[in-house]
Parts: sequence; structure tokens; C-alpha cells
Amino acid sequence: MDGKICLVTGANTGIGYATAVGLAEWGATVVMLCRDETRGATAVRDVQQSTGNPHVELLLCDLASLASIRQAAADFQARHEVLHILINNASVIPRQREVTADGLERQFAVNHLAYFLLTHLLLDVLKTSAPARIINVSSQVHASGVVDFADLQAERSYRPTQVYANTKLMNVLFTFELARRLADTAVTANCLHPGVVDTNLGRDYSGLPRSVSRGGLSWAEGARTSLYLATAPEAEDVTGRYFRDEREARPSTTSQDETLARRLWEVSAVLTSSQGCAA
Ligand SMILES: NC(=O)c1ccc[n+]([C@@H]2O[C@H](COP(=O)([O-])OP(=O)(O)OC[C@H]3O[C@@H](n4cnc5c(N)ncnc54)[C@H](OP(=O)(O)O)[C@@H]3O)[C@@H](O)[C@H]2O)c1
Repeated sequence: MDGKICLVTGANTGIGYATAVGLAEWGATVVMLCRDETRGATAVRDVQQSTGNPHVELLLCDLASLASIRQAAADFQARHEVLHILINNASVIPRQREVTADGLERQFAVNHLAYFLLTHLLLDVLKTSAPARIINVSSQVHASGVVDFADLQAERSYRPTQVYANTKLMNVLFTFELARRLADTAVTANCLHPGVVDTNLGRDYSGLPRSVSRGGLSWAEGARTSLYLATAPEAEDVTGRYFRDEREARPSTTSQDETLARRLWEVSAVLTSSQGCAA
């Protein structure tokens, strides 16, 4: 990974943090996208110290804000001319329905639209850096997700875990549609379930304190499939697939619905005003 530049979102804790550690151990330059300057700077320093790799940087961005995502993409490109690995990892599950400054329901904004918009804004640099890989962290719960175009913002009913599953289905639909649109390039797009991992995700809606273990995998174990897709030579030409446990797995039937994926793509492009940079 020497000479490779990687960007990981939601990198200050959990699976994203362990992914940044893994990439830094491989010798890559790692850009850790985080929303909080103090938490981000601490995480960057910790990764540098634990791996001995000084090429670890902070990119500040609130993924709940479309303007912040645009600014972060510009900031990244002001610093780097290439990007080899983009890992869309950050997600949230608020207990109550929240609306962002853009008027979007927070899970839909952070868990899906941020993946969509950040990828679009960095697509040109990924293409010029090819071979390049886009990795979207989804979940096995995508199988119980639905895409209800009449209620994309969960205004009628907000059940945190159902809305989460819906956004994780969107991750898979987005990945497969992206891979189809990038078929004639050397940029791949894959998605994954990391396992059930003991992280902060879910603590807000479950009310569990951060110190309580839920008996899941460690952060490092949870990062394995992301790292496999980012680094494995045999994964270089693999695209449009869903992985778990470092192996290809079968995604839900709904996630393979091309008509649904195209429609979601079109709606997402309108909501993020990013039609101009569609793949
Ligand atoms: N944990 C599991 O069992 C599990 C299972 C299946 C899939 N996944 C997936 O794995 C990925 C990582 O989850 P995790 O378990 O590691 O969760 P986590 O520990 O809660 O970490 C989530 C990360 O996303 C960041 N984030 C949240 N909102 C953000 C925003 N508006 N802007 C920028 N960053 C933001 C968080 O930053 P702050 O620290 O500042 O909040 C944190 O760094 C997610 O895509 C999740 O869906 C996890």
C-alpha cells in the first residue's frame, strides 16, 4: 500500500478507526474523515503512534451537511491529486427522528446521501488514480430494508432500526448501480457486512452506556472485510459484489433490483444536486 492514498469516513472510532489503523500499518497515506476536530485529531495521533506511520491526516467534515461534504471534497483535492481507496463507513442510528440543516432525515442523509455525494465529488480523482476501489460499509440488516419513495424521509413513521435497515439497503443498491455505471473504468465498487461489532453504533437508540460491551467482535475484527476489499490483490478487479467475512456473500433479492437502484440513484442525485457529476 506504499504510495496509496486512502480516505476513510467515520474514522475516529469503531470500525472506521480500525480500518484506518490497518491501512496505516500497510504503509498507505490515510485520510481520516471525522466530524469533530478534537476527536479526530486524537484519533489521527493515536493511529500515527500505534502504527509508526506519520502519513495519517485529518479531514474535517460533517456528513450530515451537503455543504460540508462539498467543502471536504474540495479540501481533499487541494491536498491530494490522487485517491486510490475510498471507504464510505460513517453511519448513525438516532433514537428520535432528527432533521439536518438541509431538511433531510439524519439517517438517510448520513448513511446514504453522504455515501452518494462524497463518492460523486471524488469520482473524477478516483478515475484518474485508477486502479481505484470504492468500498461501502453496509450491513446484513439490509435484507429487511425497504425503499419507500413516498416516505424516504421517514416522516410517517420513524422506527430507528427499520430506518437504519432501509439506509443499509440503499448502500447495497447504490454500490451495485455504481459498479454498473463504472463498468468501463478501472474503478471498482463493492459493499460489505462487517459482522456484529462492539462499537458505539446503536448506543444512542438502545440507551446502553458506551462502557457496556454487547459481546460483539472487536473493532479490528470488524475492519477485516473492509481491509480485505481495500488491499487484497485478488479483489482488484472484483466489482458490484457484497462481502462478509472476507468472502463474497449473497445480498438480498431486493438489493439486486436494477430498476429500484436506478430510481434511487436519480432521486439521490436530485436531493444532493449532483446530477452534473453522475458516473
Ligand atoms: N457495529 C456493528 O455491529 C455493525 C454491523 C453492521 C454494519 N455496521 C456498519 O459499520 C459502519 C461503522 O459503524 P461502527 O459500528 O463502527 O459505528 P460507530 O462506532 O458509531 O462509528 C461511526 C462513525 O461515524 C461517524 N459519524 C457519525 N455521524 C457523522 C457525521 N455526521 N459526520 C461525520 N462522521 C460521522 C462517527 O463519528 P462520532 O464519533 O463523531 O460520532 C464515528 O466515527 C457503519 O456503516 C455501520 O452501518 C456496523
